[in-house]
Amino acid sequence: MNCASCHGSQLQGGEGSSLIDDVWKYGSSDAEIAETIRNGVPDLGMIAWKDVLSEKEIRSLVIFMREQKQLAEKEGLLERVQPEGGVFKTEAHDFKLVQVAKSKRLLWSLDFMPDGSILTTERNGNLWLVKDGQLTGPIKETPKVWAYGQGGLLEVALHPNYEENGWIYLSFSETAKGASGGMTAVVRGRIEKGRWIDQEEIFQVPAKFYTRSGVHFGSRFVFQDGYLFFGIGDRGRREMAQDITRPNGKIHRIHEDGRIPEDNPFVGVEGAYPSIWSYGNRNPQGLDTHPVTGELWESEHGPRGGDEINKIERGVNYGWPVITHGMNYGGTPITDITEKEGMAQPALYWTPSIAVCGIDFYEGDRFPNWKYNLFATGLASEELHRLVIEEGEIVKDEIVMKNQGRIRDVASGPDGFLYVILNGGPYSGIARLEPVE
Ligand code: HEC
Repeated sequence: MNCASCHGSQLQGGEGSSLIDDVWKYGSSDAEIAETIRNGVPDLGMIAWKDVLSEKEIRSLVIFMREQKQLAEKEGLLERVQPEGGVFKTEAHDFKLVQVAKSKRLLWSLDFMPDGSILTTERNGNLWLVKDGQLTGPIKETPKVWAYGQGGLLEVALHPNYEENGWIYLSFSETAKGASGGMTAVVRGRIEKGRWIDQEEIFQVPAKFYTRSGVHFGSRFVFQDGYLFFGIGDRGRREMAQDITRPNGKIHRIHEDGRIPEDNPFVGVEGAYPSIWSYGNRNPQGLDTHPVTGELWESEHGPRGGDEINKIERGVNYGWPVITHGMNYGGTPITDITEKEGMAQPALYWTPSIAVCGIDFYEGDRFPNWKYNLFATGLASEELHRLVIEEGEIVKDEIVMKNQGRIRDVASGPDGFLYVILNGGPYSGIARLEPVE
């Protein structure tokens, strides 16, 4: 109950390591495992359980993990449930899942090149080009990333006028000179003959804002009217999400070349970080604009029981950690209030959490009844949700796919199919949904 959200329902691993593979980073003896459970690895997202669980319970957990390992071996527990005939039946369309490129690597984001190939990031730092079902490359001389905890190479997106200017944008966590730890940064560059060239720095914060924490980096992109929007998570320092002098726990808006727009909400407010567009955002993991209304929508990876979908508006406070519908992963409370004046409510929240990640408005024609629906991915839940939005409100939430692996990202392809990145499961890598009559 306490461990599944990160380690998987069968302890097979998720955002936290597998506890049944007999690989023990912090020592394999009972005493060493109990010590990790007691004191956690806070900077990497493993919480300390000593104030939640008694010594007896910690001891029982060690025994339980040993048993689960034995069971997993006996029953081949990691096999997935496939729908009958491979067809997923949903309310508006039936579909099958088709592998585009198989990979066991932790792919994070993807975007489509004009020639039909796909660019995809691997969190440990590689940028790959997917051609004919294969990951090729990696692209040489991409920026050096700080691949620590949830950090590494994150978002990739082509500039909307890529065919004229060749710009490709990347976000990643990096260490910097004079800084301790890491922080999210944005660059743009071009690819020529398999190399990353012409790099320009688009967003980087001063060294004092870097932290040792390995969690909550954000950071998907949206291009709109010459602006670039992206999020940075609270970096595990939750109270900073309310502090407008700091860049973490925020959605930012900058010009595409990195300049700060004069009309940003906190420009001119003393001490405020000028690129802030909204604040009180815990860990923005998905961002997209509604294809018709232009509204900016975000998915926010919440605490336990507090995942959110938000409509992001200029200067608004989304409340983290003063208000939330969730609690700490250990089951202890964060706050007893879920709403407060001056703080926006989510358009939707999930209790229990789905471990929400990338989102995308479907814009293709292959699934006509899904046009302009918002798709949201789930990591721990291994779910793909279809959200129907009417006049700025979410009026339906349907799970269209489940149990096929952790879903990291979703994107409408130029061919009208809906693409997903799966980390694990039978289709691990890149796959797409194709309609079935
Ligand atoms: C909020 C997410 C989260 C929850 C909940 C969580 N863990 Fe972890 N745990 C992690 C992460 C992340 C790591 C990997 C840390 C690292 O890479 O060093 C980890 C590592 C561990 C390790 C060390 C594994 C090794 O290789 O040595 C043990 C043991 C462990 N967790 C046990 C538990 C138990 C038991 C529970 C439930 C009482 C639990 N965890 C709940 C995130 C979590």
